Amino acid sequence: MALISCKDLAVGYDNAAVAENITFELNEGDYLVVIGENGSGKSTLIKTLCGLIKPVSGNVSYDDGLKKTCVGYLPQASEDQKDFPASVWEVVVSGCLSSCGLRPFYNKKEKALARENIEKMGLKGMEKRRFGELSGGQKQRVLLARALCATQKLLVLDEPVSGLDPKVTAETYEIVKRLNDEGVTVIMISHDLTSAVGYSDHVLVMDGTIRFCTTKEYLETFNLKEKYNG
Ligand SMILES: Nc1ncnc2c1ncn2[C@@H]1O[C@H](COP(=O)(O)OP(=O)(O)OP(=O)(O)O)[C@@H](O)[C@H]1O
Ligand SMILES: [Mg+2]
Repeated sequence: MALISCKDLAVGYDNAAVAENITFELNEGDYLVVIGENGSGKSTLIKTLCGLIKPVSGNVSYDDGLKKTCVGYLPQASEDQKDFPASVWEVVVSGCLSSCGLRPFYNKKEKALARENIEKMGLKGMEKRRFGELSGGQKQRVLLARALCATQKLLVLDEPVSGLDPKVTAETYEIVKRLNDEGVTVIMISHDLTSAVGYSDHVLVMDGTIRFCTTKEYLETFNLKEKYNG
């Protein structure tokens, strides 16, 4: 059975669809990039996939093995995060919360995982800084480190590289790709077509009509193969 399967899905708010006729399946280990104009419903779709909002109609089904606790979700950066009072360490380690269950503290393994991801994202030495006072790119890296703590199966990233400098952008793609090579399924929204699509194996285009295809088909259709793959 597919890891996630959407059939005739319509997503939106208060029963009004912002995107509809969404049908696709993702298998374990797939890497999907979601592209489309501003306001086309990309973030709404992945919030629906993460179970944060209900479908307007149609349905999403998950493989039994995919527990919600195994999903690492990186929300799109927003201004609301500005005054967030927690420290970098607290935000990152909170990615382990779901694995704690009812245990009221983080164990050694969880703390080690948080430290590892802090290092991976180049945040070492910043653990005590207040999240709210970081730059946009730094916040994004903290949230990515947090998502990496949460995921074992599915990483859902809403524009993970927006605001990051070119070096960290490239490193972020590499980290996500490495996780994908290790078997983590990835869903990534990106406006950065050149890089993002190159790493993926499937593309979901949301531009009024919905189109789901393999990256190969996508590049062939738009005659972009040479541009992306050299
Ligand atoms: N909480 C909300 N309540 C009602 N409508 C919303 C809400 N959030 C988003 N919308 C509307 O839903 C539509 C799709 O928004 P969404 O955030 O999914 O777009 P997007 O494709 O992610 O765009 P972007 O590329 O700008 O991030 C927009 O018209 C937006 O105004
Ligand atoms: Mg969005």
